[in-house]
Amino acid sequence: MTYQGLIHRYRQYLGLPAHTQNISLLEGDTPLIPMPRLSRQLGCELFVKFEGLNPTGSFKDRGMTAAISEAVGRGAETVICASTGNTAASAAAYAARAGLRSIVLIPEGKVAVGKLAGAIAYGAEVIQIRGSFDDALTLVVEITQKTPIALVNSINPFRIEGQKTAAFEICDDLGSAPDWLCLPVGNAGNITSYWAGFKQYQKGLPQVLGVQAAGAAPLVLGHPVEKPETVATAIRIGKPARGEQALDAARESNGMIIAVPDEKILAAQKILAEEGVWVEPASAAGLAGLLAESATGKFEAKGKRIVIVCTGHGMKDPAIITESFISPKVIPANYGSLIEVIAS
Ligand code: F0G
Repeated sequence: MTYQGLIHRYRQYLGLPAHTQNISLLEGDTPLIPMPRLSRQLGCELFVKFEGLNPTGSFKDRGMTAAISEAVGRGAETVICASTGNTAASAAAYAARAGLRSIVLIPEGKVAVGKLAGAIAYGAEVIQIRGSFDDALTLVVEITQKTPIALVNSINPFRIEGQKTAAFEICDDLGSAPDWLCLPVGNAGNITSYWAGFKQYQKGLPQVLGVQAAGAAPLVLGHPVEKPETVATAIRIGKPARGEQALDAARESNGMIIAVPDEKILAAQKILAEEGVWVEPASAAGLAGLLAESATGKFEAKGKRIVIVCTGHGMKDPAIITESFISPKVIPANYGSLIEVIAS
């Protein structure tokens, strides 16, 4: 049967109310890509769950199909979210699909161009906040408490329901849960969802390695970060809404939450691209964390089956690449010049 999206495929496992409709862009069903070179290097079996291949280019579409389907079913007319970019684009797309008005609040100047362009293209009303993601989240919580506007951040429980499906897919593909699951942690909705999904699906439990950027690592520091800073703007978050649940996932799974510096995140982004998978910086945090931990010897990758969750596509944030590269050579349009430049 042709694929009909996540709610159709996994409805029996999703705690969604009866009024839920099915607003889908055929999200999910993303590939679990084997990484032979990295596997050889680490002596493990390593896969990338490439969530950048969702309809709007990030994993957010899993939760958004659920949140928008529920919101439209209960008669909501307008949805709102705070976002570092990907949630905004996803909310805008699913709202457009459902015929809803969407409003997105983003931190001024800190959203990657592919995400901003997406939100605009899908017709969201984009508002920049002179402040952080955390400030924007506080504002959208307040407005949704005082007005009928529906909140579609991952505080919304249906977002978590939808995002559990990634854990189901991994178990379906591998036959069981992997030994380790490595993923970036920002507002902590995704780590919460994976852990809930693995527990529910009963195909084994992974140990969970959650990775924050060193400049935005409240869960590692044990306190909120007032002015989070990182090149991985997607996870530039100082006060994760589901922080406690993220810590629970790490503890219950016998895993951990660690922080890695921006240089290691960018190095991991390069390593993934060299194996043909281009992801946005935040999405490389899982691999950066895995490499950092294996280098300390605290973490034994050997013989393990490991899944790295790459949450967003590299095309979301092209500037991170183009700002640091040397402009490609320009040559006259003739064969002689081409041969000369290739041979040099
Ligand atoms: N990776 C990417 C590419 C993201 O966009 C996000 C979150 C995360 C990882 C972290 O996921 O918040 O569930 O822990 N982006 C949100 C947004 C905050 O607004 O797009 P999380």
